[in-house]
Amino acid sequence: MTYKESLNKENIPRHVAVIMDGNGRWAKQKFGRNRIFGHAKGADSVRNITEACRELGVEYLTLYAFSTENWSRPKTEVNALMKLLVKTIKRETNELNKNGVKLNTIGDIERLPDDCIRHLQEAKETTKNNSKLVLTLALSYSSRWELTKAIKNIAQDAADGKISPSEVNETLIHSYLATKDIPDPELLIRTSGEKRISNYLLWQIAYSELYFTETLWPDFGKEEFFKAIYEFQNRERRFGKISEQLVVK
Ligand code: IPE
Ligand code: IPE
Ligand code: MG
Repeated sequence: MTYKESLNKENIPRHVAVIMDGNGRWAKQKFGRNRIFGHAKGADSVRNITEACRELGVEYLTLYAFSTENWSRPKTEVNALMKLLVKTIKRETNELNKNGVKLNTIGDIERLPDDCIRHLQEAKETTKNNSKLVLTLALSYSSRWELTKAIKNIAQDAADGKISPSEVNETLIHSYLATKDIPDPELLIRTSGEKRISNYLLWQIAYSELYFTETLWPDFGKEEFFKAIYEFQNRERRFGKISEQLVVK
């Protein structure tokens, strides 16, 4: 039986977040090629995992594509990643649209080159009425950037008298985040064997299940994704309670 066939259709996470890692190592280890080759192959995995989400009925997929810290990589790699982003958006927008996928971004998008911003805006506009899956690309994103911005805006709104400090609660904080329209991920996947969060969705993953795999991102296909969902479904999510208190589905 495949992992896909083994899945409980009643317990599919609504939101899966992914740290797509290992492109550079994949290119080097497998082909002795440069890192850019790995990034290009990684774009194919994005397509496969987006399709896998549609097949299962996952409603939100949030992919870490470029972090605030990634700006510190060599200029040639940063430029190549930005070019690849434009190329991928151009190539995939029609397909996303056909499959009912709405494109969204989180991050400090203004730091991206102008043509990236333009193509992202166009793709968002083209797909804005789709409602099957929200595909969010985290670009020039880091959680501390997001939280700093949110806290600054909350402080400003309090200073302007729009909110009072006593109103600040978890719901209000959520409404100031870049992910304000997205529920928290039930599952976070990181490929490539690294076991860290790298400044990703720190607030949002407070109670996410974490899934780490040695598989490098360009090798991470649909069945690997279904395996991650399978493992998710076999965990007991207690949220601080004890087993006996949980309602058996
Ligand atoms: C992930 O792969 C893609 C980005 C961070 C843009 P890496 O480029 O980090 O690949 P490794 O981790 O060096 O193998
Ligand atoms: C995290 O991967 C960022 C993205 C996947 C976009 P990195 O490869 O940049 O993270 P570190 O350097 O291993 O923490
Ligand atoms: Mg990496």
